[in-house]
Amino acid sequence: MDVRVGATLTWVVTGGVGTAGAGAGAGDAMAAATAATPNKRMEHRKRTAAHRGPAGVLVQTRTACRFRPVLSRCADAGGVVSCGESFMAKPSQVTWGGRFSAGPAELMLRFSESVSFDARLAHFDIAGSKAHSAMLAHVGLISKAERDAIHKGLDVILAEIEAGTFVWSTKLEDVHMNIEHALTQRVPAAARLHTARSRNDQVATDMRLWFKHAAADLIERVRGAQRALLELAMREGDVLIPGYTHLQRAQPVFLAHHLLAWMEMLDRDADRLAEVGRQANWCPLGSGAIAGTTLPIDREFTAKALGFVDARGRPQVTQNSMDTVADRDVFIAFAAACATIGVHFSRMAEDLILWSSVEFKYADLPDAFCTGSSLMPQKKNPDSCELLRGKSARLQGNLHTLLTLTKGLPLTYNRDLQEDKPPVFDSYDQTSICLDVLAGTLAGMKVNRTRCAEAVADPALLATDLADYLVLRGVPFREAHHAVGAVVKLAEGEAVKLDQLSTEDVQTVHPKFGPDWVKVFDLKRAMSMRRGTGMPGPGQVKRQLARWRKKLKP
Ligand code: ARG
Repeated sequence: MDVRVGATLTWVVTGGVGTAGAGAGAGDAMAAATAATPNKRMEHRKRTAAHRGPAGVLVQTRTACRFRPVLSRCADAGGVVSCGESFMAKPSQVTWGGRFSAGPAELMLRFSESVSFDARLAHFDIAGSKAHSAMLAHVGLISKAERDAIHKGLDVILAEIEAGTFVWSTKLEDVHMNIEHALTQRVPAAARLHTARSRNDQVATDMRLWFKHAAADLIERVRGAQRALLELAMREGDVLIPGYTHLQRAQPVFLAHHLLAWMEMLDRDADRLAEVGRQANWCPLGSGAIAGTTLPIDREFTAKALGFVDARGRPQVTQNSMDTVADRDVFIAFAAACATIGVHFSRMAEDLILWSSVEFKYADLPDAFCTGSSLMPQKKNPDSCELLRGKSARLQGNLHTLLTLTKGLPLTYNRDLQEDKPPVFDSYDQTSICLDVLAGTLAGMKVNRTRCAEAVADPALLATDLADYLVLRGVPFREAHHAVGAVVKLAEGEAVKLDQLSTEDVQTVHPKFGPDWVKVFDLKRAMSMRRGTGMPGPGQVKRQLARWRKKLKP
């Protein structure tokens, strides 16, 4: 499960407070994931009366709206929020305000905030702060009582976030400052929490924790799609279809063999995600803003507390402070893994779209994942597959965004890097729902056995087998291939199927054709001869199904 910020999100927009209801159903991992992103899934409902809240901020109650439109709509609606009231905010109370005589422009606050999307890191941010403060107490930089007070305060804040009662403020820029500010207001010791820490190593830590979680979650969903695939392959294990090259009928294969090709693709996807989890498993904390700290911290302690450990439980800490705060390779690896999954979605979807067309009619996709046409009553459109194909473009776009974002950035941290989060969050959200939709579509797919049997009955699909027949009689393959080509031409000329030619006819083409040549077209026999590993013979397919059954056992 992704971090859930809460079904109801309360927001302090610049100068005003809004409450936004997110429609996330409990137990629905996908909805929970998106509920954690405040600017998503929040339908604009009618604005309600605003009243002045504490400290002069405007409080909107019973208002549910998309996060971004709130900012502009409120401003348009006659200065309900402060956007139009005063351009410059008061001298800043922000954490870095010491050297500033004026706070940032309201426009700048709106421009630079990231809490609207990084609030979903709250759970990891709090875990990081707990580990960091535990380490500070361990080395004596804060007292045990201060550590306990900080932990208690963070637990309360997390509970509020989960209940949806925590008030987020864009003035406080990001998830880190929102939480630290709330903590400082309640717990005096919180003023010591940021000792030997920068938001640069903090955000790197939050994201590495998030990637470990996101990769593990997506692997589970890949397994779900693989299980749906396996069930379908077992259910329809004996159906034969033509396999295609160049989208032309090529050779017969069991449908299960085709489905198990997808299985291999998905399995490599799971491997790639596991690799992302491995790459993420190094703790950045202690790298500071760029060059560590002069304070006597214990990085290994923090790493262990956060689970950044190897298989033997030994702590893994990043090895160069500059690389640590500048590095976004895990982001790229994650987005690349999702983009590759997207390409796989797209290829599977394309097959399914073809199979469900009247031209093929090999498969009937479940009504629950199709739609009709508002104009043509006879239509049933394969929308889930078309969207799977379409979403793959978006997943590639996210990867491209990250590559472009990081290309040419000087070491080390630059604020550009704040833009690293929306693409990976989107890749996670989309990949996650796509995997579930793929599983649902496969689970409800019906195979049209009659159509498949008709399509695979063409003896021409076994023309290569006929060449192999000649090879077994000592004919070099090139010559055999040529001879069978001539046989095909002969059949075409006589307007008969390949197996309807007479033995005398084929012997005029090549003397090595014996009276048993026509046995080649016995489909069952032909399939049973494909015995080698990875081939589509019945024995092999059975073996592969058993392998996957074992591997995918829950
Ligand atoms: N919100 C920032 C981000 O996502 C956190 C790091 C800010 N660091 C800084 N030096 N301004 O990148």
